[in-house]
Amino acid sequence: MQELISAIAQKTHAYTAFKWHGMRCSFTKRAKDAMLEPDMMDLPIRPRRNRKSAAMRGLMQETTLTAANLIYPMFVQEGDENTPIDSLPGCTRWCVADIAAECQRLYELGIPCIDLFAVVPEEKKDAAGSEAWNPDGVVPRAIAAIKAAVPDMLVMTDVALDPFNTYGQDGIVREYANGSYEIMNDETVEALCRQALCHARAGADIISPSDMMDGRIAALRAALDAEGFTGVSLLSYTAKYASAYYGPFRGALGSAPKFGDKKTYQMDPANAREALREAELDAAEGADMLMVKPATLYLDVIRAMREHTNLPIAAYHVSGEYLMVKAAAASGWLDERACMMEALLSIRRAGADMILTYAAPQVAAWLREK
Ligand code: PBG
Repeated sequence: MQELISAIAQKTHAYTAFKWHGMRCSFTKRAKDAMLEPDMMDLPIRPRRNRKSAAMRGLMQETTLTAANLIYPMFVQEGDENTPIDSLPGCTRWCVADIAAECQRLYELGIPCIDLFAVVPEEKKDAAGSEAWNPDGVVPRAIAAIKAAVPDMLVMTDVALDPFNTYGQDGIVREYANGSYEIMNDETVEALCRQALCHARAGADIISPSDMMDGRIAALRAALDAEGFTGVSLLSYTAKYASAYYGPFRGALGSAPKFGDKKTYQMDPANAREALREAELDAAEGADMLMVKPATLYLDVIRAMREHTNLPIAAYHVSGEYLMVKAAAASGWLDERACMMEALLSIRRAGADMILTYAAPQVAAWLREK
């Protein structure tokens, strides 16, 4: 009894002291009346219980990021040198002779898929972009080298003409006498089919058209099937926006448009419904996977597409998105690892199954550490 009285006295004293400090607090009437537990709110529902330890948080985790979700974009060039890319710190232009060994290392890190982009010297570019379907070009040679050395690594290839033509445009350009120009849709689709067949013959597993021409998925599917490549997959750049965040990538390839922009074929950043229209067309034309690009600025588009289709969705964390984190981290302003992981996890949370990212090797290594 004596003990109880002193406990009450102590608590009353504490409460009085609390009040004397002039603090106003929102105790429920019950807590106030009791005056025994001034620090106890009447809160039966406490979401923090589900965050009380790392193990508890693990049980509750809704979204995961694993190396199995990652696709690594790689650049392959002529010659026998590997050159670091200034505009994409951490990335390299690989020569054909060394890219397979790097893919072996990536595969051992747990990365299941790479996406190949060609770096084309100016003297090999022409108006038609015909180097794009040269069977001795860097891409088909790299595909063959990688599939021979690391057969289980999935090799995806980019299909579009911008690294190959003198205009830096994704399609075939017609110039008019008055100085205007047009990116020709149907002529381009035919060229893309040639390029895709060149890659399939070299052993590509997945063809990934990034050009945004109309009807190219149906045409590519038909062209591949006609040559017996019924097992080669199509990952369509379904909603590729005319984004300013591609700048560092164009620097890496030397593929910036020589004139104009890409707004007559890439999508307006203002539009989301239009992405669903593109998704319906790609699904009807036979795409195996859809893509949203860029990723972190377009999480709403990823989410909308996720709710609209049952096809797997990829998101491309593009060069500018990668560089924002790298540059801020290099200045000591952001924590690179934490920010990169948060960006990629958020892309997954929005609804993407796969993520193309230049951070793939680093992220795969980080995921192994934890
Ligand atoms: C071009 C292509 C681009 C990217 C991938 N394929 C650039 C563009 O459309 O101008 C951008 C990738 C990136 O920024 O990381 N077909």
